Amino acid sequence: MTEPRIDTTRLQRLARAYTESAVFYAAIDLDLFTHVSGGARSIADLATAMGTSELNAERLVVVALAMGLIEYAGDGSIVNAADCEKFMVKGSGRYAGPWMTFTRHEVPDWFTLTAKLTDPTPPSELGMYDDLTVERARKYHSATYSIGMGAGRRFCRTVDLVGKKHLLDLGGGSGAYSINAVQVFEGLKATVFDLPPVTVVTQEYLDRNGVADRVDTCGGDFINDPLPTGCDVAVMASNLPIYSAENIAKVVAKTFAALEPGGEMHLIGETLNAEGVGPLDAALWGMAEINFGSGGRSHTVTDCINYFEAAGFVDVGNTDFVPGTLTRTTGRKPTA
Ligand SMILES: C[S@@+](CC[C@H](N)C(=O)[O-])C[C@H]1O[C@@H](n2cnc3c(N)ncnc32)[C@H](O)[C@@H]1O
Repeated sequence: MTEPRIDTTRLQRLARAYTESAVFYAAIDLDLFTHVSGGARSIADLATAMGTSELNAERLVVVALAMGLIEYAGDGSIVNAADCEKFMVKGSGRYAGPWMTFTRHEVPDWFTLTAKLTDPTPPSELGMYDDLTVERARKYHSATYSIGMGAGRRFCRTVDLVGKKHLLDLGGGSGAYSINAVQVFEGLKATVFDLPPVTVVTQEYLDRNGVADRVDTCGGDFINDPLPTGCDVAVMASNLPIYSAENIAKVVAKTFAALEPGGEMHLIGETLNAEGVGPLDAALWGMAEINFGSGGRSHTVTDCINYFEAAGFVDVGNTDFVPGTLTRTTGRKPTA
């Protein structure tokens, strides 16, 4: 048996992986997927629609084909890959462009990572949320809303809240989870708890979705401020890598104390597997926190289960929420 040949292909790809992000951003900027969907199906048509030379349209098309973002149909015309057609066409309700470019401003930071890794400055607690303004929160949540509504719908498909009375949406942001939950589950009310500048923006999304009579907001810091009481279900989504183990354990324990007996908590976040070996996405979200000077890190499935059990939750479990990206840790507060 001959040993598999070891070569540098993978390492070379990694060394230039940033070029793929750059091409994807350019395709978004030039509305490549929107033009393809709108009928520009050849390089010449795309060049006209995007305002590029034919040579540059061809360069973009060649890379996008290689990345699987667009494809050739049977007649040789260019069509979007299924995910690009669903999520990358402007004007569609599912358009996720703001989310795809959500971290674009961090690009220069990633390329000074070496210096950051050796910087001895101690981390701050709130990281990117230090000095948050309403304006920054509005921009930030235009992106989280574009992806959060889908996640909120998924939450309502996978978690049965029939009979629940009041949802506490910790770090609820745009309110995407609460908006979906009160629309799906009759009689349910919700409170979005988030930093004060964010709740101004949350209110705008609640008004826009016609749920302001069923969802209210509460401004505060879930690490240091008291949490609203009287809720029988709590969700905390997409906050996990932003915080240290101590602070996630603290919020889970505070939520346990605030919930009604019999209430349940769902912690949704990018989570490493039990061995701490991937998925890569969860590992990178933990690393991204270095760019904001926070104490955030990646947490494993086992860490999450431990936070819940240490808080006193029973029936603790962890399940995939979006396979390869997000898991959901759940637990129930005993009735006595
Ligand atoms: C990535 S967003 C997720 C928003 C929403 N849960 C979703 O999934 O669409 C994280 C949210 O948590 C909020 N957050 C972070 N730290 C917080 C804290 N210490 N207290 C209250 N809210 C916080 C942020 O302001 C932001 O709205």
